[in-house]
Amino acid sequence: MKKNNGGIVNPFGRLKRMIVGVIDGAMVPELDISVEATMPKSQIDFFRKNGGKPFPAEYVQGAKRELDTFAAWLENEGVIVDRPKVIDLSKPIITPFWQTQCGLYAAMPRDILLVADNKIVVSPMSWRCRYTEVEAYEGLLEMYKSMGYEILIAPKPLLKDELYKKNRVVDDEHFISILSETEPVFDAADFLVLGKTILAQESHVTNKSGIEWLRNALGDEYNIYTVKVNDSKPMHIDTGLLPLREGLMLVNPERVDIPEMRMQLPAQFKHWEFINAPTPVVRAGDPPKFMSSDWLSMNIITIDAGLALIEEDQEPLAELLEKYDFKVARLPFKNFQCFGGSFHCATQEIARE
Ligand code: ALA
Repeated sequence: MKKNNGGIVNPFGRLKRMIVGVIDGAMVPELDISVEATMPKSQIDFFRKNGGKPFPAEYVQGAKRELDTFAAWLENEGVIVDRPKVIDLSKPIITPFWQTQCGLYAAMPRDILLVADNKIVVSPMSWRCRYTEVEAYEGLLEMYKSMGYEILIAPKPLLKDELYKKNRVVDDEHFISILSETEPVFDAADFLVLGKTILAQESHVTNKSGIEWLRNALGDEYNIYTVKVNDSKPMHIDTGLLPLREGLMLVNPERVDIPEMRMQLPAQFKHWEFINAPTPVVRAGDPPKFMSSDWLSMNIITIDAGLALIEEDQEPLAELLEKYDFKVARLPFKNFQCFGGSFHCATQEIARE
C-alpha cells in the first residue's frame, strides 16, 4: 500500500494524525422524539429532568481528564492530535421551524466527520441539538483544507417536524426508524470506511436518503454497502462491527450473527475472520451510561495492525486481542463513556501511513 501523509488510503496503516473530541460544556439535550428513540430506557427520566442543563460536573471533569490522558498517550505514540474548539452549547438553538433548549457537545468527531482518502465529509446530522456542533471544527477544517484535503459539506438539513415520525410504532425487537425520508441526514459514525469500500447502517440518525447522498457525493470510486445489525435502537455502527485490521473484524454477538453478516457482505470479505467481542465488564459503582449500552467496551481504536487501545477494565477483550497478536494498551475511559461513546467515537482518523 502506498505511503500517504495527507489522508487515509490504507485504513489499517500506522496512525499519523487524529482528532480527539472535547467534553467541556457538554449539555443534556432536550428529550425530543429523535433523542428518545435511541437513548436507553433506564435513562429517559434523566433526560426528562435534566434536558437543557449541563451534564453532571463530576463526569464532565472525569471525562476531560480521561480525554487529556488519552491525547497525551497518542502523542507519545507519535500521533499528531488535533482538538476541536470549545464552543458555547448552553444557549437555545432557534430556527424559523423549531427550537431546542441547547446543544450537546463536540466530544465525538466520529459522528460529524467522515474521512475517505483525502476527502473529509461534514455530515448532515439529524439531532437538532447538534445543529451548530460544526462550529467547533471550523478551525480544523480550514487547516485540513490548507493541507490539501477536500472538504465536502453536506447540505444543511432543515430538520422540520416532518423528518421525524410522530406516530411510529415502537418495537423493542425490531428497528422501525424514527426518521422519514424528507431530506438526507446521517451521522458519519453509521459508516465504516475501509478504503474504497464503505459499510453503512440505516439508523435512527441515518436515513436511506443520507446514505444515497453520500454515495453520490463520493462517486463511483467508492462502494457503499448497507448492512443490517440486530438492534432496535441503532445509532452508530461501531458498537456492532469494528474492523481491527485487514481481514479481521470484531463483532457484537448480541447484534450480529456472523453467518448472516457474511451473507450481507460483498465477496471481498470472504477471507475475513469475524470474532465475537466478549461480554462487557461492568463494575459496581461505574459511572452511568446516560446515552448508550455497555457495548462501548468494543468501541476501540487500533494504532496499527499490531496495537489496540481499550478501556482499562476490559480484561476479556484484552485476552482476545492478544490471542490475535495485538499488543493491548489500556486507559481509563469510564467517565467519558457516560456520554455515549468510547475511544472510537471520541476520535476521527485524519491520516494513516
Ligand atoms: N448506540 C450505541 C450503543 O448504545 C453506541 O451501543
